[in-house]
Amino acid sequence: EAAEKGGYDSYMMKEIYEQPNALTNTLIGRLHDDTGEVNLDINLDPKSFKRISIIACGTAFYAGMVGEYLIEQLARIPVDIDVASEYRYRDPLVSENTLAIVMSQSGETIDTLEALREAKKFGAKTLGIINAKGSSMTREVDDTLYIHAGPEIGVASTKAYTSMVSAMLMLALWLGRARGTLAEAEGRELLHAARELPRLVEESLTPERIENVKRIAAKYADAKDFLFLGRGVNSPTAYEGALKLKEISYIHAEAYAAGEMKHGPIALIDENMPVVVVATESKLLEKTISNVQEVRARKGKVIAILTDGDTENARHADDVIYVPRTHEMVSPVVNAVAMQLLAIFIADKLGKDVDKPRNLAKAVTVE
Ligand code: G6P
Repeated sequence: EAAEKGGYDSYMMKEIYEQPNALTNTLIGRLHDDTGEVNLDINLDPKSFKRISIIACGTAFYAGMVGEYLIEQLARIPVDIDVASEYRYRDPLVSENTLAIVMSQSGETIDTLEALREAKKFGAKTLGIINAKGSSMTREVDDTLYIHAGPEIGVASTKAYTSMVSAMLMLALWLGRARGTLAEAEGRELLHAARELPRLVEESLTPERIENVKRIAAKYADAKDFLFLGRGVNSPTAYEGALKLKEISYIHAEAYAAGEMKHGPIALIDENMPVVVVATESKLLEKTISNVQEVRARKGKVIAILTDGDTENARHADDVIYVPRTHEMVSPVVNAVAMQLLAIFIADKLGKDVDKPRNLAKAVTVE
């Protein structure tokens, strides 16, 4: 087993470090810098959909949430998103003009599989964003966009998440280009930014950055509760960060869209509440920083995820995790890595076995 972990303490850590490779495999051959083309080999007519429904569970659901933002922004198609256990029982509105996208690392999660069957029953076209080759879902969808992240053993998903988000980015680009909603120049800029992802994630894992996150993890590992905040395309990053932390450290963590904090969670903030804020470069950064100030005014401790070089906003935070600069639409991939590292180093500090989190299974195939 030690050999299989490739010198890392856990599969989860190994898989975190595999992300530059996994992302290369997700992106390879699909994005063409010279022509600006996106070639996903999907046998569905991108102009035929009036609506998209994204369906998934767990981490895949948060990757889907990023997809919702990206597709609506770039392709201007209305998107709804559901956890599969809700979708399958809620008598959803589906027609032949609906594209139902199921997202799943394993391709076997029972709720997602049943939700797929429900969508098909009402005539939806279906697409899978899936990691496991030949899995049940891949046999039942009209087409699959494989993420090619390679086998994922760690129960808490890492590389499958960043690869799924990248696949969603490519899908949004493909839809936007085909439907004429995405200007050529913007399309090329995003395409280029996506191609940089393996390098940026590699850069997120340098020893200096790792040491910094370890130090922060040790400082806050005794906290009983955490709050995670983010906005826009990075609000799902906050949700995913909270999920990672609770799955492997058993610390209670909640996530909110930053603007919603004042409608409830702000009541929880005191000097014992660390708040992780995704505050990388964005059109809404100023608004996020004003949320940070609200946290600090109530003596909350702020751990800010900031873009490299942003010393200006660092003064509002108790601790900073810097991440490489990238396009806002692509940043959820880079920012997710910071979340994974924070969670795994807190769990390590607490002596938890991150590969065998209590009560959790890698794939939930029975009800
Ligand atoms: C389980 C795992 C999660 C995973 C979820 C969905 O709950 O513990 O890590 O995100 O299932 O799995 P899927 O294979 O459908 O992506």
